[in-house]
Amino acid sequence: MPAKAKYRKDYKKPDYTVTDIFLDFQLDPQQTQVTAKTAVQRLNPEAQQLRLDGHGFQFASIEVNGEPFSAYRQDAESLSLDLSGLNQERFELEIVTLLKPAENTSLQGLYQSGSAFCTQCEAEGFRQITYMLDRPDVLARYTTRITADKSAYPYLLSNGNRIAGGELDNGRHWVEWQDPFPKPSYLFALVAGDFDLLQDRFVTKSGREVALELYVDKGSLDRADWAMQSLKKSMKWDEERFGLEYDLDIYMIVAVDFFNMGAMENKGLNVFNSKFVLANPATATDEDYHNVEAVIAHEYFHNWTGNRVTCRDWFQLSLKEGLTVFRDQEFSSDTGSRAVQRINNVKLLRTVQFAEDAGPMAHPIRPEKVIEMNNFYTVTVYEKGAEVIRMLHTLLGEVRFQQGMQLYIAENDGKAATCEDFISAMERASAVDLTVFRRWYSQSGTPELTVNDEYDERNKIYRLSVSQATPPTHDQLDKINLHIPLKIELYDGQGHQLDLQDEHGPVSNVLNILQDNQVFEFHHVYARPIPALLCDFSAPVKLDYDYSDEQLLLLLKHAENDFVRWDAAQTLLANELRRNLQRQQNGEEMLISPLLLDTFGAILEDYQQDIELTALMLTLPKETEFAERFNVIDPSGIHAVRQFLQKNIAEYLKTMLLKVYHRIDLPQYRPERQDIAQRSLRNVCLSYLAVTEFGNALVNTHYLHANNMTDTLAALSAATLAALPCRDALLADFEQKWAHDGLVMDKWFALQATRPDEDVLQNVIKLMDHPSFAFNNPNRLRALVGSFVNQNPNAFHAVDGSGYRFLVEVLIKVNSSNPQIASRLIEPLIRLGRYDAQRQTLMKRGLERLAKIENLSKDLFEKIEKALD
Ligand code: PHE
Ligand code: ZN
Repeated sequence: MPAKAKYRKDYKKPDYTVTDIFLDFQLDPQQTQVTAKTAVQRLNPEAQQLRLDGHGFQFASIEVNGEPFSAYRQDAESLSLDLSGLNQERFELEIVTLLKPAENTSLQGLYQSGSAFCTQCEAEGFRQITYMLDRPDVLARYTTRITADKSAYPYLLSNGNRIAGGELDNGRHWVEWQDPFPKPSYLFALVAGDFDLLQDRFVTKSGREVALELYVDKGSLDRADWAMQSLKKSMKWDEERFGLEYDLDIYMIVAVDFFNMGAMENKGLNVFNSKFVLANPATATDEDYHNVEAVIAHEYFHNWTGNRVTCRDWFQLSLKEGLTVFRDQEFSSDTGSRAVQRINNVKLLRTVQFAEDAGPMAHPIRPEKVIEMNNFYTVTVYEKGAEVIRMLHTLLGEVRFQQGMQLYIAENDGKAATCEDFISAMERASAVDLTVFRRWYSQSGTPELTVNDEYDERNKIYRLSVSQATPPTHDQLDKINLHIPLKIELYDGQGHQLDLQDEHGPVSNVLNILQDNQVFEFHHVYARPIPALLCDFSAPVKLDYDYSDEQLLLLLKHAENDFVRWDAAQTLLANELRRNLQRQQNGEEMLISPLLLDTFGAILEDYQQDIELTALMLTLPKETEFAERFNVIDPSGIHAVRQFLQKNIAEYLKTMLLKVYHRIDLPQYRPERQDIAQRSLRNVCLSYLAVTEFGNALVNTHYLHANNMTDTLAALSAATLAALPCRDALLADFEQKWAHDGLVMDKWFALQATRPDEDVLQNVIKLMDHPSFAFNNPNRLRALVGSFVNQNPNAFHAVDGSGYRFLVEVLIKVNSSNPQIASRLIEPLIRLGRYDAQRQTLMKRGLERLAKIENLSKDLFEKIEKALD
């Protein structure tokens, strides 16, 4: 397949633009007719060819200025009009296309989710509806008329304001919507169906009233409240922290069961994966509650960062995504626990993003080369993109950062902007030189900071020498220096923080690392200090400083920075794991250091000091988190050592674990900060206790007494991971209770896929025939197959190659039904460079087999080609 790459450097302004578009949809599952009337404007007076993007529909007719038109060429992806005979600056096109939404399993363009119609146009889905200049720098005013059967589709929704509607004699009705804000085609949306509706309102700070409408499946109203509250909270927060107010009279959110991603910020009409809307205590965990709130916030924040100011081209995706993730992270930090939020973000970054940067798909947050845009909705663009914004925030401070935001929005409102426009606004508003900082946008890979220190006893000077280097990545061999903010603290031997001073006086604790090697001197340091480096994870880098266990212990106990304390505990655990992996490979017996056990004991003893942090510090990192600390990963070794650590910590601390477990008592479920903290600590205790002699009885009772999904799932998960005798009965009970509800069953499928049993793969294969499973539903696939390949590395990487063969079989099917999902599922198979020769050979064989299949999608092609290269 001749998949053509696009390059960032090749960007050209469009020759034509669309100023207005009128869309008429005659909805029908088997055959929907779309008439698109567009007002086209020629921008380049020399232009004579108008190339429109489009595929995946039947092309019925085209007229130019009301006359039939035949001077066009059609190919698999476009329609090119020869306009040499029409020397007009403005003209009108009318294009009629025919669509089959019921057959559209790709979930892009117009498709059906259950019995409802919906659309997904980002990044390039609009072109599956009609021929269009489908690029984000073409901004048009949309008017949309929807006609459909009234009883099956009582609600007909699109962007903007409802301006007209009426009934027809044949049982059909119609509604017309108009969006006053010009927008790119990727923000267009249409929804038609029968729903339950939750209504509310929000009064903006300038006193405008906004109608809020939340559409959910019939019967799901009892799971809609939390999403609505989250929306109002987000609207308020954005006014207070960023001064940004909502701009339309109505804001609609629709929850659908079939969705490739989390949610979509279509102007005034967000479409959400129901996973990120529906929540009540019986069906959703604390984590689900948090995710619903964060995704609602994220999509809402896009109204300014994404919609009012959009992207010039898709290479600029991080302009809206990195910034909007930063904004939703700040929202969660301001309204919840900043430390918990930070730690969870860092975990994701260090595991998933660092792994991406170390693999064949490595790319800068602003990619240079793309074959399939859908492949670039990545943790790099989103999460590392947000880290880049966070570093800017650290360098500028809140006040100057907000001044930069205001300038950025003032200059770019109603326009399609670039990352450079953003940085330039930040630079001018703050007067901070960002020349070197800009390189974060074009350089991929994870920088490594190596820190050495030296104490000059005689002069009471402490010197930190810091060097930076970024190892080569798959996409880019040569690396240059970056501007890295390194936030530090110094502690004396008693754990007191020292003031930082150089020879002139007090200095900032954010060090500006710009060069290969830099030395920082701190004066008036009266004894050798212990440095806390990378406080709050001030930059997305790996840090190499040779901490002794004693230093780590001191930081763990005394550091004022919560992230540093947590990170010290993580490093202690990782050191323990590494040593035991070594022992295991040498055929020696595994050992656990008494120091680690005592430390964990002391943390637990003091849990009331900070329940949230205690829970996080005691949580044993997942196998995938440990794995990222190694260049070559030994999945079975990590699995075995992790189990050994868990067992030993549990045995040593069981009396205290039991005490804390019983002391925490939460009679009523409330998804509130203090309660969430207590539940999480109690469930961490449970996960350890599960592998002790109390395990079976305790877990069983925990399950039976649970009055909320967080506790239910904690019990189920503990029973599964510890393979307790009660496991099968509990799993069966859950299944019987929730078989009718796919979203809840996803939790069950995910657990089944992470069973430590030998026959886990056979079980997964069998479950693909389970009545609650649906191959075409991305949530089900992610829960069962995704969890197996990503969260059960020991089984997926089985040395007989069975895990790889299974994934290849699944991918062959998903490649033709939903290439976007196939491309997400293939990720663990393309990282072959991280495994031993035997596994590499097997993984390569799987990829080669896939490379040869018929109709290989661009999505998979792009990744397989890179992986085999
Ligand atoms: N733009 C969406 C978001 O981040 C993500 C998305 C991308 C959804 C592509 C669907 C398709 O909020
Ligand atoms: Zn987004």
